[in-house]
Order: sequence, then C-alpha cells, then structure tokens
Amino acid sequence: MTDPSPDPETHTIDCDILIVGGGFAGCGAAYEARYWGRDLKIVVAEKAAIERSGAVAQGLSAINCYMGMRWNENQPEDFVRYVRNDLMGLSREDLVYDLARHVDSTVHMFEEWGLPIFTDPVTGRYVREGRWQIMIHGESYKPIIAEATRKAASEVYERIMVTHLLPDAKDPNRVAGAIGFSVRDGSFYLFRAKAVIVAAAGASHIYRPRSAGEGSGRTWYPPWASGSAYALLIPMGAEMTQMENRLVVTRFKDGYGPVGAWFLLLKATATNATGEHYEAARLPELRERVGAYADAKPMPTCLRNHLMLQEILAGRGPILMHTEKVLDTPEKESIGWEDFLNMTIGQAVTWASQGIEPKTTPSELILSEPYVMGSHAVCAGAWASGPADVGADDYHWGYNRMTTVQGLFGAGDTIGGSAHKFSSGSYSEGRLAGKSAVAFVRDHPGAPTVAPERVSELKAEVFRPVRNWQTERLNVTTGTVYPEVLFPDQGLNRLEKIMDEYGGGVSANYSTNKPLLERGLAHMESLRVDLDHLGARDLHQLQRAWELHHRWWTAEAVLRHTLFREETRWPGYYYRADFPHVDDEQWKCFVNSVYDPRTGEWRLFKRPYRPLF
Ligand code: ADX
Repeated sequence: MTDPSPDPETHTIDCDILIVGGGFAGCGAAYEARYWGRDLKIVVAEKAAIERSGAVAQGLSAINCYMGMRWNENQPEDFVRYVRNDLMGLSREDLVYDLARHVDSTVHMFEEWGLPIFTDPVTGRYVREGRWQIMIHGESYKPIIAEATRKAASEVYERIMVTHLLPDAKDPNRVAGAIGFSVRDGSFYLFRAKAVIVAAAGASHIYRPRSAGEGSGRTWYPPWASGSAYALLIPMGAEMTQMENRLVVTRFKDGYGPVGAWFLLLKATATNATGEHYEAARLPELRERVGAYADAKPMPTCLRNHLMLQEILAGRGPILMHTEKVLDTPEKESIGWEDFLNMTIGQAVTWASQGIEPKTTPSELILSEPYVMGSHAVCAGAWASGPADVGADDYHWGYNRMTTVQGLFGAGDTIGGSAHKFSSGSYSEGRLAGKSAVAFVRDHPGAPTVAPERVSELKAEVFRPVRNWQTERLNVTTGTVYPEVLFPDQGLNRLEKIMDEYGGGVSANYSTNKPLLERGLAHMESLRVDLDHLGARDLHQLQRAWELHHRWWTAEAVLRHTLFREETRWPGYYYRADFPHVDDEQWKCFVNSVYDPRTGEWRLFKRPYRPLF
C-alpha cells in the first residue's frame, strides 16, 4: 500500500443542499428535500455506505416512536407529556410536538417500502411493545430506508469523512458548505452548498467503555458514532443546548443487548442478586433526593438507572433480568432471540459464549458508560428554531430545525432539547429539516461564497496527521513510541480516561464536582494542544484522527455544560456531588453555550423552558 498524499487532488462539488451523514435523519432529509425540491441538486456525504451506516446499521427490533393516531392510541400532546416527564421536566416541547404529529406518516411509508411490522391478525393493528413502541422484523431496516434515499438524492458520496463546515466568506454566521476526504483514495472533497443539513451522529467512546482490550469496540451506541453531530457545529459558532444531558443505559452485561422488549413486551422483571425487587424498596429514599419526580409515571429513565446504581453500590448485585420467568412459550422464546439477532447479534453471541440459556438462566444487567446523543432518552444538541405554528416566540426565529447559523440545519442526534425520536423520529426530523432547507434555498438562491485561501488552509489542516507521520517516522524510540507523534488510539485512550475520571464516567460511578470538572478541562486543554501532533500512517488512521478531533469537541462541550449546571437534574445519568439535588427554582431551564471561533472563548448561559401547555 502506498503512503497517503499530504496534498492530494481536490474534487469540488456544487449543490443546493448538502446532507452530512446518511443515517436515518440524513435519509429522511434527502427523501423530503427531493419531494419539495424536484429541481434541486441534493447531495449526501457519508463516511461509510448508507445501506449499513448510522445507529441502525445493524438493524432494530422495534420502532420506539409511533403514536398510532389512526387507531386513536395516542395524541401528540400525550407524547409531549411523556417526554417532559422522562426528561425531568425539561424539553423543547415545540420540537417534540412537531415530531409527534408527523412521525406516524413516516412509519406508514416504511411499511409501504417493505419493512415487516408485527401486526395483530385479529385487530389489524401494529403489535405494541409498549405505549410508544411497536415491534418489527428489522434486520434489513436500514437497507430498506437507504434504497429510497438512493432514488431521492442527486448524488450520494460514500466513504467521505466530513471534517469541517465552511463559513460563507461574506457572512461568517452563514454556512457555505463543507470539506472532507475520501477514506478510500485519500482525495480531498470540497462541497459548496446553499444550505447544509447536519445529520451526523452523537458520540460513543468519549467516556472509557466498560469493555476492555480487544473487546473495547463493543459498546451499545456504535463505535463509529464520533460526535460529528456536535463537532461540526460548535466551531462554526452554533448555539448548543443540553450537552450535559448525556445518556447512560441499562443493558444486558457485556453484549449491551437492549432491555426494552424484555421489560415492556415480555414483561420480565429485574431483581437484585437475592431476588428482591429493589425499585419499590428504594422509593422513599428517591423521594428525598428528587421530590415529586420520584412518583412520576412512568418512572423517568435516569431514575431507574439511579435505583439500580444504588443497589449495586450497596453490594447487592449483580442485578438480574429474569428472562427465565417469561420465555414460557416457543413464540416468546423466538421473540427473545430475534430481539437480539435483529439488532445486537453480539448479545446472542455473548449468551452462546457464556453458556447462558435464557429460558433457564437469568442474565446480568449493568449500566453502560455514558454516550452523547440527541435521539434516544436524552437530548444533547443544537439549539434550533422550532415550527412557526406552535411554541413560544423566542423558540422560533426562522426556518424549522435551522440552527443559529444561517442555512445550517440539523436532524436526529444533531438537534437538542427533543428526546425520544429514535429511528422513526430521526427520519421524521430529517424530513422536516429537508423541507425547510428547500424553503431556505428558494429564498436565498445566490451561490455561497467560499474563500479559496480558507479552503487551502483547511486542506493543509486535514492532512496534517499524514504530514506529521511522514516527517517524523524515523524519529522512533521503540515500538509505537514516537516522541513527536500522537497516534489516534493513544489520544483516544487519553480522552476516555479524562472523561471517565473527571467527567463522571463508570469508574467514578457517574459522579463529578466543580474541582474535578475544572481539572478535567485543564487536561482537555493539554490534549487539544497535542492533537496538532496527531500522526496517521494510513487513511484508516487519518479517519481515526478526525474522529478523535470530533470526540474532543463533543467532550469539551459536555464538561463545560456539566460545570455550568449547578444541580443534579438527572440522577442516574450523572451526579454533581457538590449539588446533589434537583433545583427547579434555579435550574428548570436550558443550559446553552456558544463557542466563538474568532476568540476561542466559550459563553455559557441559561435559556428559559416554556411548556407548550
Ligand atoms: S433501544 O436500544 O432498543 O432503543 P431499549 O430497548 O432500552 O433501547 O428501549 C426501548 C424502549 O423502551 C425505549 O422507548 C425506552 O425508553 C423504553 N423502555 C426501556 N425500558 C423501560 C422500562 N423499564 N420502562 C419503561 N420504558 C422502558
């Protein structure tokens, strides 16, 4: 294999709308932008291949966001109440409502395209896993959705890692495109666009995972989710929200198999090692900590985590999911296995490798390392304009799902304040962003202005790790120890250690405080300086180098937000040990931040929470 070039050829692509990321949100954006913009050039750039990219790459066994309005099962208002409750009172309810009223139509389209959804032969309704969730045979969920995107998009550029967004040369608060490189041939890509929709991923691996050694690629949220959803936006000066609201999930131990189908559909229960139902026993103690939130129904996800953590810390683990008590028919047994074979094959493999027969043996549950996301039970992401017809006036300043940067839209993990989108909601939000981006392009038809000098500067920056390696490769001490070179895996280990120990990861039992966060930020600053010395032997390492940069930005934002919010709003996701209670009086508000790319300063401030009703 020849060495990558530090100054390769440039491909320039001009388009109307650039969609960064071809996961569920990006696929929805391409589909809907094409519907409203028949004549427009709509381009998708994706770092993998869209048939198997994003969080749904491996498949899913349920669609977790479906109202069922045609059967009068739920109304959008019900969903807003549910999300409000699960997020301990704090959501952008205009965005949540907007998703809820549109999401069913997305699911109906998926079914039309061939997605098999469990249907009750008697009632003709979808089989409910829980109030909001429906069961699917979803091994091929992503290829089905990708097919429509291939037809809708003008061009799909795959194996392109997008590293930076480009500001407009005349207006730094307007986006003009993006740059990146091919992870296959090492060439440089310049996309010039009138509007950009960032539909990239949240982040795994900014906290040290529980998995160790060669197993460390096994995380619940995929290892390829490197925080580009945030890291592309923050250096552009986009306002961010809820970056402290990171996700910890209860999972089957080691394989990270999800628990939803077991708790909700199969009605399995979890106990401590001696068979006690610890949740009920710990309620009085929970009331002391969080007040009335302890009695919210259903119990917020973070509080369920909290109770499990307390039980483990009290020495009564392992926590056991009693699969053996519910797999009493062949049908249920097959649902149990299919649940994992559809979406988390590793869990079925874990069962096999550990000799666990779920029909006779319970399985251990554990809390995962934290992830940063905007689409599951948390809502980190960009502060976005909401729909024109619902919500407070100050939540709406332009086009639906546009960030505070002109022409820069987001969907899925990118958009903050609106949790519980899951796959169907992320796709629906992509559709909303796609429609708005078309309206923006119609209103702003002029070509963006991109300064060639800025592109040259950034190109040199993108390939710096290749140059570093080629200059320093003979300067070796021993093995992989190069005094002047930091390899991406070494930098990642450092980042994970900082976040784990100072930012409230697994080894700290999710706990942190002001001095720890400040120390963590100091370590982050020295890591930032060292990122200039990243070295890449090949294109694979060059991709890892840029993923590390993106994880760094995401992690920095998480620490700063966590430091600013002086309370513990979501016990079970993380604890500010110096402010252990929920403090509605001072903190029932959003924590937002803006990074100023000219000065390098971060500004943190509060934004009001305004309930929809
Ligand atoms: S996922 O990986 O499939 O998304 P999981 O299976 O944990 O995660 O969750 C599926 C759905 O069930 C989500 O909507 C989640 O909020 C919900 N859920 C999971 N466990 C419970 C529970 N014990 N009580 C109520 N809802 C739950």
